[in-house]
Amino acid sequence: MTHDSKRQRGLDSLAAQESFDAVLANIDKIEAFDVAYGVETSSPVEPWQIQEADDITLLNNSRYSPTPVKTIRQAIAASPVRHDDIAFVDFGSGKGRVMLVASEFPFKRIIGVEYSSDLCETSRRNFERFDGLPKRSTLEVHCRDAAEFMIPDDAGFFYFYEPFTVAVARKVLRNIEFSVHRQPRKVILCLVGRGLLPAVDGKSWRPVGAPLKSPDEQYFDTQFYTNSQYSG
Ligand SMILES: C[S@@+](CC[C@H](N)C(=O)[O-])C[C@H]1O[C@@H](n2cnc3c(N)ncnc32)[C@H](O)[C@@H]1O
Repeated sequence: MTHDSKRQRGLDSLAAQESFDAVLANIDKIEAFDVAYGVETSSPVEPWQIQEADDITLLNNSRYSPTPVKTIRQAIAASPVRHDDIAFVDFGSGKGRVMLVASEFPFKRIIGVEYSSDLCETSRRNFERFDGLPKRSTLEVHCRDAAEFMIPDDAGFFYFYEPFTVAVARKVLRNIEFSVHRQPRKVILCLVGRGLLPAVDGKSWRPVGAPLKSPDEQYFDTQFYTNSQYSG
């Protein structure tokens, strides 16, 4: 590839990101979650702004950019599980928006896994400031790489909004499979966006229904999967 075509590719991807951010900013303005609840979950954070980022994480980890609120609510409400029996896990929990919205539902507990310590701190501040309905369950953030996170055996709902590459997601899914092997149970993967669909192995996981259309923007369409052996 010539220097000029590389430069052009860089400029095109920057323009695409700017136009995506503008769409998201507009959705956030309409939904006004941050203003209504006294938190800050909207502004993006680039991987190179994260102090822990090294060459490998820069290649594998995505930026912070939140899922729109209506998409989160719809996905959790539509999920085929009893919320009160299980813990909810958001991989790449960022500023904690998904966790806050999940706290509107009666999950046993709500867990976030986020590798940036600054983002973990921001999410904890947001939990303290949150001026919404009383949270129905405890919120805990684990500041570490999702691939190294030991899956709790009461976890039953796993939320992914394109936090990392397919290679990292395969490790996380293997850890979930180990947990299900230790403690047999039905679990749900909730994949927002299409980026991680290739990570899902059809032998261990089967789709639940057709993709759920996002009420915000089709980029955020959601697909559920369940572990085949307990899906009956
Ligand atoms: C696209 S944002 C999603 C944020 C949030 N889950 C939501 O949907 O609003 C992805 C987040 O994953 C985090 N992340 C990326 N790679 C990670 C990894 N290997 N382990 C833990 N967190 C990671 C990023 O720092 C970022 O905050």
